[in-house]
Amino acid sequence: MSVVLKEVTDAAEIEALVPHVYRIFQMVSRGAALGWAVPPGPDEVRELLTGVVEGAVTGEAALLIAYASGGDVPPPAGLDPLTTRLADGSTVAGLGYWRRYSRQTHRPHADLERVAVAEAHQGRGIGRALTEGLVASARKAGIEVLTLDARGDNERALALYRTLGFNEYGRLVDFVAVGHLRYDKVFYAIDLRRPWPRL
Ligand SMILES: CC(C)(COP(=O)(O)OP(=O)(O)OC[C@H]1O[C@@H](n2cnc3c(N)ncnc32)[C@H](O)[C@@H]1OP(=O)(O)O)[C@@H](O)C(=O)NCCC(=O)NCCS
Repeated sequence: MSVVLKEVTDAAEIEALVPHVYRIFQMVSRGAALGWAVPPGPDEVRELLTGVVEGAVTGEAALLIAYASGGDVPPPAGLDPLTTRLADGSTVAGLGYWRRYSRQTHRPHADLERVAVAEAHQGRGIGRALTEGLVASARKAGIEVLTLDARGDNERALALYRTLGFNEYGRLVDFVAVGHLRYDKVFYAIDLRRPWPRL
């Protein structure tokens, strides 16, 4: 399997992405911590992607898509293998984006949101590649501090972010409500004004 990362800057590409991203976000119904209690519908996905890609044109945001091809990976159970593939035979294996803060006094900074890798593709380095790519694109765009927040039980994601140089700067105990369950909300940040920590 080969994986290619691509930054989406053309709004014309959104429509083809919507069903794929919609399917990836269905992982919310299986417990994935992406900030939704129930997965977003196609219209909400379209609106989300449109907002981010519009921002990409003006340096407000960046949307990174991981395309996988040469797949030995079956589609998630219950999905039609044909409709999970794009016209070129590749599949959307994952995505993530960052967005600049809208508050005037926070304008140099951005928030990394919704890094998600389709379950069938997890554990193969795609999440790491996507996050590294998003950090690199934020740095290139002149973002000073890149923040993110994650659910406290999402150790897999938190471990990944720590290895990329993110540090915890705060925690709200029992803040995230999923039904009657409560989880910590953990705040991480990386200061991009400093040299890349992994070099
Ligand atoms: C978190 C997520 C994006 C990681 O993507 P991935 O492609 O599976 O991760 P990678 O294969 O790149 O692994 C990255 C790191 O994750 C951790 N990790 C991966 N698989 C793991 C596992 N089975 N158990 C524990 N940690 C694991 C490791 O720290 C790994 O580091 P390594 O490269 O040194 O081994 C993915 O699991 C996902 O989409 N999760 C659901 C949505 C979500 O929680 N998003 C984050 C919201 S804050």
